[in-house]
Amino acid sequence: MRSRATAAYPDRMRATFDLRDRVALVTGGSSGIGAAICRELASHGAHIAVNYRAGGDNARALAAELTRDGRQAECYGADVSKPDEVAAMFAAVHDRWGRLDIVVNNAGIEEDRELAWDDDLDLDTWRRIIEVNLFGSFVCSREALRRMVPAGRGVIIYNTSVHESIPWAGHSAYNASKAGTSMLMKTLAQEAAPHGVRLASVAPGAIKTPINDDVWNDPEGRKDLQSKIPALRVGEPEEVARTVAFLASDAASYLTGATIVVDGGMMLYPAFQHGG
Ligand code: BGC
Repeated sequence: MRSRATAAYPDRMRATFDLRDRVALVTGGSSGIGAAICRELASHGAHIAVNYRAGGDNARALAAELTRDGRQAECYGADVSKPDEVAAMFAAVHDRWGRLDIVVNNAGIEEDRELAWDDDLDLDTWRRIIEVNLFGSFVCSREALRRMVPAGRGVIIYNTSVHESIPWAGHSAYNASKAGTSMLMKTLAQEAAPHGVRLASVAPGAIKTPINDDVWNDPEGRKDLQSKIPALRVGEPEEVARTVAFLASDAASYLTGATIVVDGGMMLYPAFQHGG
């Protein structure tokens, strides 16, 4: 016979990961890790607001896929770096559901591959990366906090990167945007903690998404990438999404201001893996 404790445990676990009736907004939700996060949060019962900038068709198809069993999903087009568009999007989400429990700052771009002194380095691109990845995360966080602080509850999650810590030549804007987002998260976590709002980051390593398909589709690129990953494989978007669901859930109720790295060991100094 199963003991009472053994039988009760799964129920308690299910309850802490339950996101039923909660409303989650995922920026850049139409593809890659963002789409996986939408699916994962929906699988725990959350209603989903799928934000997109360019991927309207994908976002609509995803929302249609997620709308079932009493769960709803809607699409919201907005460029996260444009404060007016972001304000309108948050207002529309609030009008639709009357609450906002989870915001995932996932939208991001990675376009630079030049050294700082290269003539090819385009300052507009540099600025745009900071505007989308860092300023965009701030603008969305501000709109989220304006609703979550008065409600006395909410979770804001940032999809950063191992490059919030690891320097990566040729990607100065991207790295700076991710390191900046890390400090943004910690500062806002300090501000919001007394109000019952938690903030946290997930920092992925190399994940199979369109952002880096040029590298992992190329045999040489993939070999070089794998030499940097002790687990010897590129991660799947779902492996990041499951961590986001944990952070968003009551299972992480005492966790704020922290970053969880999901990288197959990329941060473990793989160059030293075999001693020498
Ligand atoms: C980047 C990927 C890269 C990975 C590990 C991520 O933040 O988006 O392109 O492969 O970091 O370097």
